[in-house]
Amino acid sequence: MGLDFEQLAFFKKNGYLLVKGAMSPALCERARDLLWQSLPDGVPLVRDDPDTLVGPFVEPHRSTDAMHVRDGFRWQEREIGTHPDVIDLIYSDEIVSMAESLLGRGTLRQHKKNGVPMGSKGSAWPGGPVDPALGTEGARGIYCTLSPPEQTPAAPQLHCHTDGHPFHLGVVGLLADSPRKGGGFTIWPGSHARLYPTFALQYDQPRIPYYDHLPSYKGILHTKEYLAELARIEDDTSPLECYGEAGDIVFWHHRLAHAAGANETPTMREAILADFWKTDLDECRSQPPNTDMWHDWSPELRGASGEYSDAFALTQQRA
Ligand SMILES: [Fe+2]
Repeated sequence: MGLDFEQLAFFKKNGYLLVKGAMSPALCERARDLLWQSLPDGVPLVRDDPDTLVGPFVEPHRSTDAMHVRDGFRWQEREIGTHPDVIDLIYSDEIVSMAESLLGRGTLRQHKKNGVPMGSKGSAWPGGPVDPALGTEGARGIYCTLSPPEQTPAAPQLHCHTDGHPFHLGVVGLLADSPRKGGGFTIWPGSHARLYPTFALQYDQPRIPYYDHLPSYKGILHTKEYLAELARIEDDTSPLECYGEAGDIVFWHHRLAHAAGANETPTMREAILADFWKTDLDECRSQPPNTDMWHDWSPELRGASGEYSDAFALTQQRA
């Protein structure tokens, strides 16, 4: 269990790592069962009928409840994020061991079965997104992206962002097969190392109150250096989409630029999202970025050379 030297080296250089077949197929299906059981009667989505899994949601089937979002092409079920079977799926011994290869043995906070799910304490600011650090004792939830209707114009260019809450490592796992252009989690490889030093704080971000009549600052203050580097990354780096098969996961560094992909296929994308963070996050989240960006990571990762074979890179959808 754990990660080998090529996997560590690849993550260090690129800020992400794909691991095929990391989740139990039986638990992926169980998580999908829970997802479908959470859908209220009357919402016209049918699990095995792709013709019904087409967006956008229309009234009266839309929901902006942070625990059960159905809006546009997004269906996000957060209440099941601390269900014991969902915890066993994404925080399995094998996946935790891989995360510990990156962050250090015995350093991770414990997830809580039947604990408080993300979304139970509302959004980060009125009308804003849910803060994944608020009331999250398990996974962020199961996030689906509906298929487009026929005759849809090409998807617009994606814009990347980084997440605003303090954590160390993200993971996204596919519960069902997701083809290319199927709305997969999309990342800008290598952006973690470019963005890390542009933050004021190494894990957190300075916050500012959000006011309707002063809408330019939506809760978070970014540095000029961050905004400039993010624009350069969008300009000079090709995004990579994490498509794949049920059971595949991708680990990603907390400062990696990413976006939710647009689904251009007849297959609804179903994924589980979760975070890992270390028990000392409370002490170190407000410190400035370290001169060694891997200061807080495992000895194995800190010692990784940054070298991996071309054959390995091919397994990462990146030649
Ligand atoms: Fe994000």
